[in-house]
Amino acid sequence: MDVRVAIDGPAGTGKSSVARGLARMLGARFLDTGAMYRIDTLAVLRAGIDPSDAAAVADLDPDISVGFDPDDIRAYLGEEDVSTEIRGDAVTAAVSAVSAVPEVRARLVRRQRELAAGAGSIVVEGRDIGSVVLPDAEVKIFLTASAEVRAQRRNDQNIAAGLGDDYQRVLADVVRRDTLDSTRAVSPLRPADDAVIVDTGDMTQDEVIAHLAGLVRERAGARQ
Ligand code: DC
Repeated sequence: MDVRVAIDGPAGTGKSSVARGLARMLGARFLDTGAMYRIDTLAVLRAGIDPSDAAAVADLDPDISVGFDPDDIRAYLGEEDVSTEIRGDAVTAAVSAVSAVPEVRARLVRRQRELAAGAGSIVVEGRDIGSVVLPDAEVKIFLTASAEVRAQRRNDQNIAAGLGDDYQRVLADVVRRDTLDSTRAVSPLRPADDAVIVDTGDMTQDEVIAHLAGLVRERAGARQ
């Protein structure tokens, strides 16, 4: 039986790594919807559009594509591989504004539904997957962790990547993004009513993946 797994939650919960690991374990496809908002944002910046100019952002309709395989998550703007650039500071700073534009969301949600339809088993990760994109997903998971835990993890990643050590700045950025993502008018970040909430604060990545795989087996089994 095909299973669609929606994984939502704020930045820094380990969502992306966990979602990819789960997709691998299930032999499923994988869709990172945040990457799609990031590619759109990169296109906005390259076009010289102010990310807070919602009308201009809405008018741009860039050619976005993302890998569908947990072992190949390359991101493309047109033919260009932009996988690294979309993770940079410029895109990260502007993506909340771009992803708050209703026309952008409508366009990308439509694409995400098309990609997920007929893909067989798939793990889709984002902010609004269980609530908006795939409200009838067989399994819905909402990952959480305190802002401090998430900032610590992100800061550790920055240190490991040679990007410096600045916990206070990272924490301020986590809190700012949480507020923007959870208070926007269209699809604010919140768990679907029927999502299973998993706090990853005291768990390793492998423990979270194993826990989620157990939930998928339980839920998918119950539907057969
Ligand atoms: O998961 P991420 O950090 O790559 O997401 C980038 C941004 O896109 C983040 O500010 C939230 C937004 N986003 C969204 O609004 N809806 C989604 N389904 C996925 C991401």
